[in-house]
Amino acid sequence: MNIILNNGVAIPAIGFGTWQIPEGEVAYKATLYALNAGYRHIDTALAYGNEKSVGKALRDSGITRREIFVTTKLPAEIKGYKETEAAFYRSLGNLGLEYVDLYLIHAPKPWGDPGDGMNYTEKNIESWRAMEKLYRDGKIRAIGVSNFEPRHLEPLLEAAEIMPMANQIRIHPGAVPEKTIAYCRDKLIAVEGYSPLATGRIIENAVLKEIAEKYGRSVAQICIRWSFQRHYLPLPKSKDEARIKENFAIFDFEIAPEDMEKLDRLSL
Ligand SMILES: NC(=O)c1ccc[n+]([C@@H]2O[C@H](COP(=O)([O-])OP(=O)(O)OC[C@H]3O[C@@H](n4cnc5c(N)ncnc54)[C@H](OP(=O)(O)O)[C@@H]3O)[C@@H](O)[C@H]2O)c1
Repeated sequence: MNIILNNGVAIPAIGFGTWQIPEGEVAYKATLYALNAGYRHIDTALAYGNEKSVGKALRDSGITRREIFVTTKLPAEIKGYKETEAAFYRSLGNLGLEYVDLYLIHAPKPWGDPGDGMNYTEKNIESWRAMEKLYRDGKIRAIGVSNFEPRHLEPLLEAAEIMPMANQIRIHPGAVPEKTIAYCRDKLIAVEGYSPLATGRIIENAVLKEIAEKYGRSVAQICIRWSFQRHYLPLPKSKDEARIKENFAIFDFEIAPEDMEKLDRLSL
């Protein structure tokens, strides 16, 4: 099942997240488990420090490159034209690939910067110019942003020659940034939902446990299926083979509208 981006590129509607999966054997094996389970969309970032192992697993999997959708990200601390180009080629080298499917500005401002990110507007636009060039050169099939709110997107859209194709933001039951989602959809920017399990915090929630029991599914599957049904493009992460399989097994059931609404309104 794919979502079609505004430039016609198809992105698989569920992806495998790799944040906090350590470089080396763990990331290598986890990526192979994901590909074996059926994921064809892998989400990494230069900042995750595991691109080398993720890339090796992609190459060793025996799956044709065209069949796998690979996302990586420009670190939040790296902004500017030349800096972006250099960081992109570092990622490409780490991954050992000829091109990346989706390249994202990881965040509008460096992590830990207490400001609202608006003082990085010009720098983000410079990065965007470099990404447009890489896109035109065929090194990236789609370009986008992450953690951008409408106020960060507005000046970028005004300056952009190529519109962003995706915005990766945190979405799970209990965290639904409706304004950003509505803004993106209005501008034909696909929304990707990261931390669909609230980085693990959601698993013991009582309301979710009740819904999960009703469907004979796990809490993780309910959260991922909810995100999938809302077209939020969930990116679940696990390093455990059984959980990786479990998190992908969400295509054979459907959550009823009244339960979808309960999940929309959940507070953690
Ligand atoms: N763009 C951004 O700024 C940004 C920020 C955060 C995340 N992301 C992306 O989104 C991905 C997912 O988000 P996330 O890493 O925050 O985590 P998540 O997918 O919300 O949750 C992962 C946590 O839940 C546990 N878990 C996974 N499946 C489970 C299951 N079936 N049952 C019980 N526990 C389970 C994992 O433990 P085990 O690994 O031990 O199974 C891990 O602790 C990231 O990996 C990354 O690719 C992007």
